[in-house]
Amino acid sequence: MPEITGTTSPVSIAHRGAILVITVNRPDKLNALNAATLDALHAAFDAAAEDGSVRVVVLTGAGTKAFVAGADIAEMNSLTPVQGRDFSLRGTRMMRRVERMPKPVIAMVNGFALGGGLELAMCCHLRIASDAAKVGQPEINLGLIPGFGGTQRLLRLAGRAATFELCLTGAPIDATRALQLGIVNRVVPAAELETETMKLAEQLANAAPLALRGMIDCINIGGECGLEEGLEYESAQFGLVFSTQDMREGTAAFLERRKPVFKGE
Ligand code: COA
Repeated sequence: MPEITGTTSPVSIAHRGAILVITVNRPDKLNALNAATLDALHAAFDAAAEDGSVRVVVLTGAGTKAFVAGADIAEMNSLTPVQGRDFSLRGTRMMRRVERMPKPVIAMVNGFALGGGLELAMCCHLRIASDAAKVGQPEINLGLIPGFGGTQRLLRLAGRAATFELCLTGAPIDATRALQLGIVNRVVPAAELETETMKLAEQLANAAPLALRGMIDCINIGGECGLEEGLEYESAQFGLVFSTQDMREGTAAFLERRKPVFKGE
């Protein structure tokens, strides 16, 4: 992994050129999301959104076993209904922050992504999983239901059949099945996970940032509105990219048969 250049325990932050690696850092608890971790992640994503030197974010979990094994069960055990709702809102707001990031976020799923871990991965724009990863919504085994958007995002990502199966049975599935269901974009051998993820991150770091941002907005909005409104929104965003130097550069570079250099301007 890259050199750690900053730590807001329980979240580690490492800059690798234009790529920021955010790592949930509670390996002894399989990176379970307690309130402090939710807040640290929210702060890390806020900072990454603001930082002009960051073009892509990679999100992962510390250690070899888990991406994130869910919301912190020990912390949840004694919550009152009001505290339970607040905990859900706290996680949901953080995850919305991830989903609405103005730059690509890649989940590097290095192991268990269960409950809140799958919910977090589903907020990312892309997911690359190790062949050793397991994903699921096991809340039913705890007498709970998903509380950070799992029933809603899984439904939109993988459809009703898969969502009913994963949520109602609580049984985890392996990475290959997650790929078949469209829950992850790619599965790679565990030993190649970091290299392959960084390759993809590099590719996106060299792409036109404002066009990436426009597409992320369109896809997010499109998932939440009707086709007519989504098409209108895309046309408006399409017009907007004509105001960028990157669009002039990209089209000129094509015509001049050279590689474009995008500056995010
Ligand atoms: N919340 C809090 N602590 C968790 C956790 C969670 N979601 N998941 C794992 N941990 C802790 C364990 O309590 C254990 O802590 P301890 O060593 O202090 O006892 C440590 O992480 C290691 O977990 P352990 O269960 O011993 O590892 P394992 O290899 O036997 O099993 C899992 C791995 C992922 C199958 C198992 O930890 C598990 O089922 N976790 C809960 C998954 C879940 O239900 N998530 C949804 C929560 S809403």
